[in-house]
Amino acid sequence: MSELFSLNGRVALVTGASRGLGFAMAKALAENGATVIVNARGMNALSAAADSIGAEALPFDVTDAAISRAALQGIVERRGRLDILINNAGIQHRRPLVEWEDEDFDRVIAVNLSACFRMMRDAARLMLPNKFGRIINTGSVAAVLGRPTIHAYVAAKAGLHGLTRSAAAEMGRHGITINAIAPGYFATELNTALINDEAFTKWVEARTPAGRWAQPEELGGAVVFLASNAAAYVNGHVLTVDGGLSVSL
Ligand SMILES: NC(=O)c1ccc[n+]([C@@H]2O[C@H](COP(=O)([O-])OP(=O)(O)OC[C@H]3O[C@@H](n4cnc5c(N)ncnc54)[C@H](OP(=O)(O)O)[C@@H]3O)[C@@H](O)[C@H]2O)c1
Repeated sequence: MSELFSLNGRVALVTGASRGLGFAMAKALAENGATVIVNARGMNALSAAADSIGAEALPFDVTDAAISRAALQGIVERRGRLDILINNAGIQHRRPLVEWEDEDFDRVIAVNLSACFRMMRDAARLMLPNKFGRIINTGSVAAVLGRPTIHAYVAAKAGLHGLTRSAAAEMGRHGITINAIAPGYFATELNTALINDEAFTKWVEARTPAGRWAQPEELGGAVVFLASNAAAYVNGHVLTVDGGLSVSL
């Protein structure tokens, strides 16, 4: 059984992995045998994160198309292959609808959706010759459940779930699977404002059947499964990891 989930010999890039969910997923991939490359913009936090799990630090901004493409190409040149891409870098912006600025909407879409599309495309080009690839997009329960103030985020994540399906439909025959993980409420820096809001935390605890915020490590099993041979026939799936939030009223 452990062979089925082993990632020995696999080379994985995780974007947005200096902290939070990206770091937790990178750690889980490394612990299961993958050679891991972690990405983010801030080099100090990224180096420390990489060192702590024996990964390579690869700083770049995923919204820079040329640099992102060169970074992917560089991995293949240094490591010989790219097997797994975790499209995870993401940002949040909260405002009442009538106060949203166009630039803020575009900025969230650029990181959370457009960059994911380009990374998927450019990674798939590098995976095609090997007839093997695993692309896993970090979606969200907010792709299907609306919430006030986070308009660009909800639009981007809904788009990313859709992109997961269209790419899966096309790439499956080439040995490349494209799936998404949809986390519920995880205690990370992205949610600092919400975690510090006592009323909101009470709401999360009452609203989520699990009765609490999730910890980032709780995504590890999902990402290892989708990246492994165990998920060879799982394609275009959105794996929800939300403590039951999205199936309950
Ligand atoms: N936390 C949750 O409850 C939750 C729920 C559902 C979905 N998600 C999704 O999970 C993903 C990770 O969220 P998180 O909570 O772990 O957030 P986080 O703690 O804020 O971490 C975000 C990571 O992305 C990096 N990043 C941001 N912009 C980037 C860019 N342009 N290029 C490269 N790296 C960039 C950050 O580092 P730098 O700032 O140094 O670049 C950091 O490493 C996001 O896609 C988010 O939407 C989170």
